[in-house]
Amino acid sequence: MEGAGAGWPEPVVRVQSLSESGAATIPERYVKPEAERPAAAAAGGATAAEGIPVVDLSSPGDPATARAVSEACREWGFFQAVNHGVPPELLRRARGVWRGFFRQPMEVKQRYANSPATYEGYGSRLGVEKGAVLDWGDYYFLHVRPPHLFDPDNWPHLPPGPDLRETTEEYSREVAALCGRLMTAMSVGLGAGPSRLQEAFGGAEGAGVCVRVNYYPRCPQPELTLGLSSHSDPGGMTVLLADDRVRGLQVRRRGAWVTVDPVPDAFIVNVGDQIQVLTNATYRSVEHRVMVNAAEERLSVALFYNPRSDLPLAPLPELVSPERPSLYSPMTFDEYRLFIRRKGPRGKTQVDSLKATAVGGAAT
Ligand code: OGA
Ligand code: NI
Repeated sequence: MEGAGAGWPEPVVRVQSLSESGAATIPERYVKPEAERPAAAAAGGATAAEGIPVVDLSSPGDPATARAVSEACREWGFFQAVNHGVPPELLRRARGVWRGFFRQPMEVKQRYANSPATYEGYGSRLGVEKGAVLDWGDYYFLHVRPPHLFDPDNWPHLPPGPDLRETTEEYSREVAALCGRLMTAMSVGLGAGPSRLQEAFGGAEGAGVCVRVNYYPRCPQPELTLGLSSHSDPGGMTVLLADDRVRGLQVRRRGAWVTVDPVPDAFIVNVGDQIQVLTNATYRSVEHRVMVNAAEERLSVALFYNPRSDLPLAPLPELVSPERPSLYSPMTFDEYRLFIRRKGPRGKTQVDSLKATAVGGAAT
């Protein structure tokens, strides 16, 4: 049943199967080098009391909201959004239908097995390097926009209960609209016009939207591995619906790892590499990772809001000056995302690599 399958360098093993086998140890493939393990001592002064900022979005057009969003994007690259306008009932329904998917028998899930050509479907790894150390998680990845990539026939169809396809469509429509409001606040917070960032993305119509539902099964040796290795998100911005019961997401802050304590019904929003590039690093995409645990599985739904994928993106001219030269050379998102799709999650190495080639930049 589990073969090398369309384009993966070695047989695909579902982490859920490993977890449900009841084995007391994890295979070597999932054991991280010591420095990457959850308990590795990290330099820096962040304390457990310090959490990512919470931003109230009940008046999204207010200058005070733009200031709060902008400050969080500059200082942390992450914040929790409350009063965001997406109904809590829809959040629960979205979690529910996807929990339902991961509870299906393996042969049902396997019908949706993905390949590295598009990544769309049921997957268990990111990157195609043979022999890579893998993460302790399965996922489902799907495209919502642009229209030519939207194909709910590729999404699971699972009666009975609330329909997964309809729910996912409704959920992604609502969250994409929230991303539009956040783009406006981020743009105003830069001192630019309200639609400046959205225009740079190729307009709301051109923007890409995709969803990655992450499923982290229980792990017998959580101290040796990670559910998702340290990475920054390659796209524009990410809106994450974290698990309502189980923590696991950690954000890098001054060299230390800060565990996020999700506010009920909030979203966790973070800046991706493309917004870091457009803002010439005024807003920062920050490394994050996911811990797993022995007691409970964890589910999260990440919606990625991306620029039109064929536009070369570079810092906005108004954010470049002799004092602050352009840090990044132009690249399309199509080209950019090949890196993570081939190599898997690698901290901030990709966005940093753009610096080395920046034209006339004070790159470091
Ligand atoms: C991601 C991500 C965090 C989480 O999907 O890019 O960082 O908590 N997910 O699952
Ligand atoms: Ni991420």
